[in-house]
Amino acid sequence: MDREKIKEIRPIIWDDDNNQLILIDQRKLPNKLEYFSCNTYEDVAFAIRDMVVRGAPAIGISAAYGMALAEIKNDNIEKAYNVLKNTRPTAINLFWALNRCKNAHNNNKPIIDEAKLIHKEDREICKKIGKIGEKIINDGDTILTHCNAGALATSSYGTALSVIRFAHYGGKNIRVIVDETRPRLQGAKLSAFELNYEGIPVRIITDNTAGFLMKKGLVDKVIVGADRILKDYTVFNKIGTYSLAILAKYHNIPFYVAAPLSTFDFKNSLKDIEIEERDEKEVLFIDGIRIAPEGVRAYNYAFDITPPELITGIITEKEIITLNKTSYI
Ligand code: MRU
Repeated sequence: MDREKIKEIRPIIWDDDNNQLILIDQRKLPNKLEYFSCNTYEDVAFAIRDMVVRGAPAIGISAAYGMALAEIKNDNIEKAYNVLKNTRPTAINLFWALNRCKNAHNNNKPIIDEAKLIHKEDREICKKIGKIGEKIINDGDTILTHCNAGALATSSYGTALSVIRFAHYGGKNIRVIVDETRPRLQGAKLSAFELNYEGIPVRIITDNTAGFLMKKGLVDKVIVGADRILKDYTVFNKIGTYSLAILAKYHNIPFYVAAPLSTFDFKNSLKDIEIEERDEKEVLFIDGIRIAPEGVRAYNYAFDITPPELITGIITEKEIITLNKTSYI
């Protein structure tokens, strides 16, 4: 199928005429395609916190537009920076984008220009990740992915899903398995939506099915995204990534992480990183209905930590960093 004929999914739109940030409301997908308009930086902060927009690069781009809105409305830039900084703690792209915007402001460059640049660069970077990464995919592969590291999590294309897109549009006959990714169901709702929309063969599994499929030989590769990568290549990503990496190692299945260089954190170490804990209700309730007994509490960590020894390689916009060899490659 011709890639150009597909209507590209773009979750973040800047409306120059009205100075407005328009986001696909990811809380409503896949049943409704609705847009959420942000007119102030507070609207953007809400959108990030409530996961109208989510995924490390998309959070960063949106926060940059939030800073631009603050400047356009003559708000206090330091205050806007702090409010946006305190929306979600784990994905480093948020802080990276906010710092770029603050520097632009301090150098008398309009923040909106910097935000547009971050947005444009991300699209190019995601394409490069796809082009470089598709080389690891063989014709006939079945690829398991987790959460949504797709167009919806970036400006377009995605990271893990960009690799999958480029393999598919390059003519490789591939299939994708997405796990549901409880509790917010980014796999079932968002990745399945994107892949199905473009006619890329996809099946959903519950999160606890992955090991069984690997044992049956039905998974050739795992590719996931990342929210932060430390200099020793420790990867922070959606809760459940660590379990998948262990399962992949046990079954000798290559396990790849696809991420832009803006996701790397060369400064901090493990103990400095906050793992976001979200409202317990996300686990205890489904569609407003309580599924657990009254009075029972839940853990709701949004991310986990995968050590480099479980990772085959990291696909960036520059290269594939090989960390460990598996007998498959
Ligand atoms: O909580 P989310 O949906 O923001 O988590 C998203 C992920 O964990 C993604 O895998 C990651 O941000 C990479 S997106 C290209």
